[in-house]
Amino acid sequence: MRIHENLVETAEGGVATLRVDREDALGALSKSMVAALGDYLRDLRGRRDVRVLVLTGTGRGFIAGADIGEYHGATQAEFDAYQRMSRAVFDELEQLPQPTIAAVNGYALGGGFEVALCCDLIVASESARFGLPEVKLGLLPGGGGTQRLSRAIGIRATKELVMTGRIMRADEADRHRLLHQVTSADELLPAATELAGRLASAAPIAVREAKRLIDDGVQQALGAALTTEQAVLSRLFATADAMEGIEAFVAKREPRFTGDLKG
Ligand code: COA
Repeated sequence: MRIHENLVETAEGGVATLRVDREDALGALSKSMVAALGDYLRDLRGRRDVRVLVLTGTGRGFIAGADIGEYHGATQAEFDAYQRMSRAVFDELEQLPQPTIAAVNGYALGGGFEVALCCDLIVASESARFGLPEVKLGLLPGGGGTQRLSRAIGIRATKELVMTGRIMRADEADRHRLLHQVTSADELLPAATELAGRLASAAPIAVREAKRLIDDGVQQALGAALTTEQAVLSRLFATADAMEGIEAFVAKREPRFTGDLKG
Protein backbone atom coordinates (compact mmCIF):
# COMPACT_ATOMS: atom_id res chain seq x y z
CA MET A 1 0.00 0.00 0.00
CA ARG A 2 1.37 3.41 -0.98
CA ILE A 3 0.70 5.86 1.86
CA HIS A 4 2.50 8.69 0.04
CA GLU A 5 4.16 9.09 -3.33
CA ASN A 6 7.47 8.21 -1.61
CA LEU A 7 6.38 5.84 1.18
CA VAL A 8 5.26 2.26 0.66
CA GLU A 9 3.92 -0.10 3.31
CA THR A 10 3.79 -3.88 3.14
CA ALA A 11 2.37 -5.86 6.04
CA GLU A 12 2.60 -9.58 6.70
CA GLY A 13 2.56 -11.81 9.75
CA GLY A 14 2.22 -8.95 12.24
CA VAL A 15 5.17 -7.06 10.72
CA ALA A 16 4.67 -3.82 8.78
CA THR A 17 7.55 -2.67 6.61
CA LEU A 18 7.55 0.98 5.60
CA ARG A 19 9.97 1.71 2.74
CA VAL A 20 11.11 5.16 1.75
CA ASP A 21 10.88 5.09 -2.01
CA ARG A 22 12.78 8.14 -3.24
CA GLU A 23 16.04 6.81 -4.57
CA ASP A 24 16.71 9.79 -6.86
CA ALA A 25 17.11 11.99 -3.74
CA LEU A 26 18.62 9.19 -1.60
CA GLY A 27 15.45 9.10 0.49
CA ALA A 28 15.55 12.78 1.54
CA LEU A 29 12.51 13.66 3.65
CA SER A 30 10.26 16.30 2.16
CA LYS A 31 7.73 18.13 4.32
CA SER A 32 4.87 16.11 2.87
CA MET A 33 6.73 12.85 3.59
CA VAL A 34 7.22 13.82 7.25
CA ALA A 35 3.53 14.75 7.49
CA ALA A 36 2.48 11.43 5.92
CA LEU A 37 4.83 9.52 8.23
CA GLY A 38 3.22 11.25 11.21
CA ASP A 39 -0.30 10.32 10.06
CA TYR A 40 0.85 6.76 9.42
CA LEU A 41 2.43 6.39 12.88
CA ARG A 42 -0.60 7.83 14.67
CA ASP A 43 -2.79 5.29 12.88
CA LEU A 44 -0.34 2.45 13.54
CA ARG A 45 -0.62 2.84 17.33
CA GLY A 46 -4.12 1.40 17.26
CA ARG A 47 -3.57 -1.31 14.63
CA ARG A 48 -3.79 -4.72 16.22
CA ASP A 49 -2.61 -6.44 13.05
CA VAL A 50 0.81 -4.76 13.36
CA ARG A 51 3.07 -5.91 16.17
CA VAL A 52 6.39 -4.65 14.78
CA LEU A 53 7.41 -1.86 12.40
CA VAL A 54 10.45 -2.10 10.12
CA LEU A 55 11.64 1.09 8.44
CA THR A 56 13.90 0.88 5.42
CA GLY A 57 14.96 2.76 2.29
CA THR A 58 15.76 2.10 -1.34
CA GLY A 59 19.07 1.54 -3.14
CA ARG A 60 21.86 3.83 -1.89
CA GLY A 61 19.58 5.84 0.34
CA PHE A 62 17.97 5.03 3.66
CA ILE A 63 17.12 8.67 4.40
CA ALA A 64 19.72 11.32 3.46
CA GLY A 65 18.15 13.84 5.82
CA ALA A 66 15.72 16.67 5.32
CA ASP A 67 15.08 17.69 1.72
CA ILE A 68 17.63 20.48 1.40
CA GLY A 69 15.88 21.68 -1.75
CA GLU A 70 12.90 22.66 0.40
CA TYR A 71 15.14 24.63 2.78
CA HIS A 72 16.30 26.69 -0.18
CA GLY A 73 14.22 29.85 -0.25
CA ALA A 74 12.11 28.83 2.77
CA THR A 75 11.04 31.60 5.13
CA GLN A 76 12.01 31.49 8.81
CA ALA A 77 8.41 30.61 9.66
CA GLU A 78 8.36 27.73 7.13
CA PHE A 79 11.71 26.43 8.39
CA ASP A 80 10.54 26.55 12.01
CA ALA A 81 7.23 24.85 11.16
CA TYR A 82 9.13 22.00 9.46
CA GLN A 83 11.33 21.55 12.55
CA ARG A 84 8.32 21.52 14.88
CA MET A 85 6.55 18.94 12.76
CA SER A 86 9.70 16.78 12.59
CA ARG A 87 10.04 16.94 16.36
CA ALA A 88 6.47 15.73 16.82
CA VAL A 89 6.84 12.93 14.26
CA PHE A 90 10.20 11.74 15.64
CA ASP A 91 8.71 11.68 19.15
CA GLU A 92 5.75 9.74 17.76
CA LEU A 93 8.16 7.18 16.26
CA GLU A 94 10.21 6.86 19.44
CA GLN A 95 7.06 6.45 21.54
CA LEU A 96 5.25 4.07 19.20
CA PRO A 97 3.97 1.25 21.43
CA GLN A 98 5.05 -1.40 18.97
CA PRO A 99 8.77 -2.20 18.67
CA THR A 100 10.57 -0.62 15.71
CA ILE A 101 13.55 -1.72 13.64
CA ALA A 102 15.52 0.53 11.29
CA ALA A 103 16.89 -1.58 8.43
CA VAL A 104 19.52 0.83 7.16
CA ASN A 105 20.48 0.06 3.57
CA GLY A 106 22.48 3.17 2.64
CA TYR A 107 22.87 6.80 3.64
CA ALA A 108 21.30 7.56 7.04
CA LEU A 109 22.25 11.21 7.34
CA GLY A 110 20.85 14.06 9.38
CA GLY A 111 17.16 13.31 9.91
CA GLY A 112 17.77 9.80 8.53
CA PHE A 113 20.26 8.99 11.29
CA GLU A 114 17.86 10.64 13.73
CA VAL A 115 14.99 8.44 12.52
CA ALA A 116 17.18 5.38 13.11
CA LEU A 117 18.01 6.66 16.60
CA CYS A 118 14.27 6.81 17.36
CA CYS A 119 13.95 3.09 16.53
CA ASP A 120 14.42 0.37 19.12
CA LEU A 121 16.90 -1.66 17.07
CA ILE A 122 19.08 -0.91 14.06
CA VAL A 123 20.12 -3.52 11.52
CA ALA A 124 22.46 -2.20 8.84
CA SER A 125 24.00 -3.44 5.63
CA GLU A 126 27.74 -3.09 5.10
CA SER A 127 27.00 -0.23 2.71
CA ALA A 128 25.09 1.80 5.33
CA ARG A 129 26.55 5.20 6.19
CA PHE A 130 25.67 7.23 9.26
CA GLY A 131 26.27 10.89 9.91
CA LEU A 132 25.00 14.25 11.08
CA PRO A 133 26.51 16.55 8.44
CA GLU A 134 24.39 19.63 9.19
CA VAL A 135 27.34 21.80 10.26
CA LYS A 136 28.46 21.63 6.63
CA LEU A 137 25.27 23.50 5.79
CA GLY A 138 25.71 25.99 8.61
CA LEU A 139 23.00 24.20 10.59
CA LEU A 140 22.91 21.53 13.27
CA PRO A 141 20.95 18.32 13.78
CA GLY A 142 17.55 19.37 15.11
CA GLY A 143 15.74 16.04 15.17
CA GLY A 144 17.42 14.79 18.33
CA GLY A 145 20.89 14.20 16.87
CA THR A 146 22.78 16.15 19.51
CA GLN A 147 20.74 14.55 22.30
CA ARG A 148 19.78 11.00 21.36
CA LEU A 149 23.20 10.22 19.88
CA SER A 150 25.10 11.46 22.94
CA ARG A 151 22.85 9.36 25.16
CA ALA A 152 23.58 6.34 22.94
CA ILE A 153 27.34 6.61 22.31
CA GLY A 154 28.58 9.26 24.76
CA ILE A 155 29.29 12.95 24.68
CA ARG A 156 32.78 13.02 23.16
CA ALA A 157 32.12 10.63 20.29
CA THR A 158 28.96 12.62 19.51
CA LYS A 159 30.82 15.93 19.61
CA GLU A 160 33.35 14.72 17.05
CA LEU A 161 30.66 13.45 14.71
CA VAL A 162 28.35 16.47 15.06
CA MET A 163 31.04 19.14 15.09
CA THR A 164 32.87 17.78 12.03
CA GLY A 165 29.86 16.35 10.19
CA ARG A 166 31.91 13.23 9.41
CA ILE A 167 30.07 10.28 7.89
CA MET A 168 30.85 6.90 9.45
CA ARG A 169 30.71 3.43 8.01
CA ALA A 170 28.58 0.61 9.37
CA ASP A 171 31.53 -1.09 11.08
CA GLU A 172 32.25 2.07 13.08
CA ALA A 173 28.58 2.47 14.04
CA ASP A 174 28.73 -1.15 15.13
CA ARG A 175 31.77 -0.48 17.33
CA HIS A 176 29.71 2.26 19.01
CA ARG A 177 27.17 -0.50 19.75
CA LEU A 178 24.48 1.30 17.78
CA LEU A 179 23.76 -1.71 15.61
CA HIS A 180 22.09 -4.97 16.42
CA GLN A 181 23.54 -6.64 13.32
CA VAL A 182 25.55 -5.83 10.18
CA THR A 183 24.66 -7.81 7.07
CA SER A 184 25.45 -7.95 3.37
CA ALA A 185 23.14 -5.85 1.20
CA ASP A 186 21.13 -8.92 0.17
CA GLU A 187 20.72 -10.16 3.72
CA LEU A 188 19.51 -6.86 5.22
CA LEU A 189 15.75 -7.23 4.79
CA PRO A 190 15.68 -10.97 5.51
CA ALA A 191 17.64 -10.33 8.73
CA ALA A 192 15.39 -7.43 9.76
CA THR A 193 12.28 -9.44 8.96
CA GLU A 194 13.55 -12.43 10.92
CA LEU A 195 14.26 -10.20 13.92
CA ALA A 196 10.84 -8.57 13.54
CA GLY A 197 9.25 -12.02 13.45
CA ARG A 198 10.89 -12.93 16.73
CA LEU A 199 9.57 -9.71 18.32
CA ALA A 200 6.12 -10.32 16.81
CA SER A 201 5.90 -13.82 18.25
CA ALA A 202 6.43 -12.63 21.83
CA ALA A 203 3.46 -11.47 23.94
CA PRO A 204 2.56 -8.01 22.52
CA ILE A 205 1.62 -6.25 25.76
CA ALA A 206 4.71 -7.58 27.52
CA VAL A 207 6.92 -6.36 24.67
CA ARG A 208 5.30 -2.91 24.64
CA GLU A 209 5.54 -2.52 28.40
CA ALA A 210 9.18 -3.61 28.38
CA LYS A 211 9.95 -1.02 25.69
CA ARG A 212 8.26 1.72 27.69
CA LEU A 213 9.95 0.73 30.95
CA ILE A 214 13.41 0.76 29.38
CA ASP A 215 12.85 4.11 27.65
CA ASP A 216 11.25 5.81 30.66
CA GLY A 217 13.61 4.21 33.16
CA VAL A 218 16.78 5.82 31.82
CA GLN A 219 15.30 9.21 32.70
CA GLN A 220 14.42 8.21 36.28
CA ALA A 221 16.24 7.43 39.51
CA LEU A 222 16.94 3.68 39.78
CA GLY A 223 14.76 3.11 42.85
CA ALA A 224 11.68 4.71 41.30
CA ALA A 225 12.25 2.86 38.02
CA LEU A 226 12.58 -0.49 39.82
CA THR A 227 9.31 0.16 41.67
CA THR A 228 7.56 0.94 38.39
CA GLU A 229 9.02 -2.23 36.85
CA GLN A 230 7.41 -4.40 39.52
CA ALA A 231 4.08 -2.58 39.30
CA VAL A 232 3.96 -3.16 35.54
CA LEU A 233 4.96 -6.81 35.95
CA SER A 234 2.20 -7.27 38.49
CA ARG A 235 -0.37 -5.93 35.99
CA LEU A 236 1.01 -8.21 33.28
CA PHE A 237 0.46 -11.26 35.48
CA ALA A 238 -3.28 -10.56 35.22
CA THR A 239 -3.33 -10.61 31.40
CA ALA A 240 -4.65 -13.41 29.22
CA ASP A 241 -1.26 -13.59 27.52
CA ALA A 242 0.60 -14.24 30.77
CA MET A 243 -1.86 -17.02 31.59
CA GLU A 244 -1.42 -18.46 28.11
CA GLY A 245 2.38 -18.18 28.20
CA ILE A 246 2.67 -19.95 31.54
CA GLU A 247 0.10 -22.60 30.62
CA ALA A 248 1.77 -23.29 27.28
CA PHE A 249 5.14 -23.69 28.97
CA VAL A 250 3.76 -26.19 31.47
CA ALA A 251 1.88 -28.09 28.72
CA LYS A 252 5.05 -28.08 26.57
CA ARG A 253 3.33 -26.40 23.61
CA GLU A 254 3.79 -23.13 21.69
CA PRO A 255 1.88 -20.17 23.19
CA ARG A 256 -0.77 -18.31 21.19
CA PHE A 257 -0.67 -14.69 22.26
CA THR A 258 -3.60 -12.42 21.47
CA GLY A 259 -2.57 -9.17 23.13
CA ASP A 260 -5.79 -9.18 25.18
CA LEU A 261 -5.66 -7.37 28.49
CA LYS A 262 -7.94 -9.52 30.64
CA GLY A 263 -7.52 -13.15 31.49
N1 COA B 1 18.02 16.74 0.15
C1 COA B 1 17.72 16.84 -1.14
N2 COA B 1 18.35 16.13 -2.11
C2 COA B 1 19.32 15.29 -1.72
C3 COA B 1 19.69 15.13 -0.38
C4 COA B 1 18.99 15.90 0.59
N3 COA B 1 19.25 15.79 1.90
N4 COA B 1 20.69 14.22 -0.31
C5 COA B 1 20.92 13.83 -1.57
N5 COA B 1 20.10 14.48 -2.44
C6 COA B 1 20.05 14.34 -3.89
C7 COA B 1 21.19 15.06 -4.57
O1 COA B 1 20.89 16.44 -4.71
C8 COA B 1 21.23 14.35 -5.90
O2 COA B 1 20.19 14.83 -6.71
P1 COA B 1 20.46 15.14 -8.29
O3 COA B 1 20.79 13.79 -8.88
O4 COA B 1 19.15 15.68 -8.74
O5 COA B 1 21.58 16.10 -8.35
C9 COA B 1 20.88 12.91 -5.52
O6 COA B 1 20.25 12.99 -4.26
C10 COA B 1 22.11 12.02 -5.38
O7 COA B 1 23.02 12.66 -4.49
P2 COA B 1 24.55 12.99 -4.88
O8 COA B 1 25.00 14.09 -3.99
O9 COA B 1 24.69 13.21 -6.35
O10 COA B 1 25.23 11.59 -4.50
P3 COA B 1 26.69 11.38 -3.93
O11 COA B 1 26.88 9.90 -3.89
O12 COA B 1 27.69 12.19 -4.66
O13 COA B 1 26.66 11.94 -2.41
C11 COA B 1 25.68 12.27 -0.22
C12 COA B 1 25.81 11.37 -1.46
C13 COA B 1 24.65 11.66 0.69
C14 COA B 1 27.05 12.32 0.51
C15 COA B 1 25.28 13.71 -0.63
O14 COA B 1 24.11 13.62 -1.46
C16 COA B 1 24.94 14.63 0.51
O15 COA B 1 25.84 15.14 1.15
N6 COA B 1 23.63 14.84 0.77
C17 COA B 1 23.18 15.77 1.80
C18 COA B 1 23.16 15.10 3.15
C19 COA B 1 22.80 16.10 4.25
O16 COA B 1 23.42 17.13 4.41
N7 COA B 1 21.76 15.77 5.04
C20 COA B 1 21.30 16.59 6.13
C21 COA B 1 20.27 17.51 5.63
S1 COA B 1 19.71 18.66 6.86
